[in-house]
Amino acid sequence: MSEKVIPYKNSTESKKEQVATMFNNIAPKYDFLNQLLSLGIHKGWRKKTIQLIAHNQPKNILDIATGTGDFAIEAMKLNPDRVIGIDISEGMLKLGVEKIKRLNLQDKVDLKLGDSENLPFENNSFDAVTVGFGVRNFEHLEKEFMKFTE
Ligand SMILES: C[S@@+](CC[C@H](N)C(=O)[O-])C[C@H]1O[C@@H](n2cnc3c(N)ncnc32)[C@H](O)[C@@H]1O
Repeated sequence: MSEKVIPYKNSTESKKEQVATMFNNIAPKYDFLNQLLSLGIHKGWRKKTIQLIAHNQPKNILDIATGTGDFAIEAMKLNPDRVIGIDISEGMLKLGVEKIKRLNLQDKVDLKLGDSENLPFENNSFDAVTVGFGVRNFEHLEKEFMKFTE
């Protein structure tokens, strides 16, 4: 199902490439549009999720599809040792990195290029994994879920 919903129907690129292109294009307006179109509700959802994992007191957190980093930033409320955010869109990450620097969180929050289908980490590297508004963009959804249920 997720493979059929693609951003540009006449494109010959894979869904993943199209998604990265789309987010590179909308990156400068992403935060503004997210706020506008969700009427601010997106902030409450991230907050609620972070509260839900708080009892585990995670020290190493991975935020997949981190985009401009808002989930990684919210995760800092748990006082972790480190938060790593990965995303396939360089445009989104660039804005996220700037945001992290503005908030002076660069010692603990690291945003980098990475694909949810090929995570460059050893097993059991993290105590908690978050994904905010990213799953619908994944190309091989079944593959993603398998990884976390193995
Ligand atoms: C709607 S944005 C969500 C950004 C952020 N999580 C938030 O809460 O605002 C979806 C993000 O998923 C990323 N994405 C899509 N497929 C991905 C994949 N396979 N691996 C990593 N990131 C991916 C996109 O580049 C985009 O930045």
